[in-house]
Amino acid sequence: MHDRNSVLAAKLAKLLSDTVVAKFIYQGYHWNVLGPDFGEYHEFFGKLYEDAESAIDPTAENILKSGFPAPYMLTDFCEMSSIKEERLDGSSTKFLLDSALRVNGQLLACHLDAFMVATECNEQGVADFLAQRIDTLKKWNWQIKAYLGVR
Ligand SMILES: [Fe+2]
Repeated sequence: MHDRNSVLAAKLAKLLSDTVVAKFIYQGYHWNVLGPDFGEYHEFFGKLYEDAESAIDPTAENILKSGFPAPYMLTDFCEMSSIKEERLDGSSTKFLLDSALRVNGQLLACHLDAFMVATECNEQGVADFLAQRIDTLKKWNWQIKAYLGVR
């Protein structure tokens, strides 16, 4: 159904935008983290940004497979994304982890939303991709919380 597919494409475009913004946030934290645990967090934020980056291309290609053009301009990504960037407050790991938890939670919510629409559209390939992303984002949710010392 064309209408539903356009809803799915719009959800995926929003998802793509959120993923691009999250990638830059995580990479910024990978660069700017400070403190005695620098090495560990530098590596952890490296994993987060590489994971977000690895999701960008397949997300865009799922939009194209649905028959719609993929957005590619940074201006459009910033406009479509609902993830707010935060200026660093001296790069304390607590600030970075709290921020990463919020970003990851927004990404997760956006994926769950898109997954529901993909299922309604009977787009099993897209749903499968999103399900795998959801699983990975849940893993990050657990690990960021573990660093923060909470469940
Ligand atoms: Fe690096």
